[in-house]
Amino acid sequence: MNNLILCGFMGCGKTTVGKLLSRRLRMEYIDLDAELEAEAGMPIPEIFAQYGEAYFRELEHEAIKGLAKRIRCVVSTGGGAMTFARNVSAIDRRDAVVFLDAAFETCYARIKDSDRPIVRRSTAQALHELFLKRRAAYLCCSSFCVDANLPAEQLVDTIILLYNAGTV
Ligand code: S3P
Repeated sequence: MNNLILCGFMGCGKTTVGKLLSRRLRMEYIDLDAELEAEAGMPIPEIFAQYGEAYFRELEHEAIKGLAKRIRCVVSTGGGAMTFARNVSAIDRRDAVVFLDAAFETCYARIKDSDRPIVRRSTAQALHELFLKRRAAYLCCSSFCVDANLPAEQLVDTIILLYNAGTV
């Protein structure tokens, strides 16, 4: 078992679930967005404002490529990361990608007042369209999909069951 990578829309619970999973599985936790913020020396909204989204996506791609050197880590990705083919291709085949499939309403309630640049620049309808488009991408790239409308602890139990059964 290599890395356990969590993907899904903004607000689906990747960070909460990732932290809990790493503790329970005694695996190192990596928050990919936190790593690239550290690399850039500024928070994501500032990266977008100063350098634009294309630059952010380059940093994100480099961070994903960097995972090839890591083993036995639980990784939370940013909501856009696994929707780009080059990032999906950069993932080691032995890594498991788990899609946290939460309802749009759940995600939206959690993100609508946040400072995420994609949220700040989009209407609720545009975010819903993005959610539907991205959901198809998450389903394609993931080795497993879990119902992320469940409470985080229950989600963690499910992923650990799958992990111990060798399913993911
Ligand atoms: C993004 C999601 C964010 C962060 C950046 C872009 C996206 O991460 O990577 O603001 O494109 O959906 P979270 O999914 O953790 O909010």
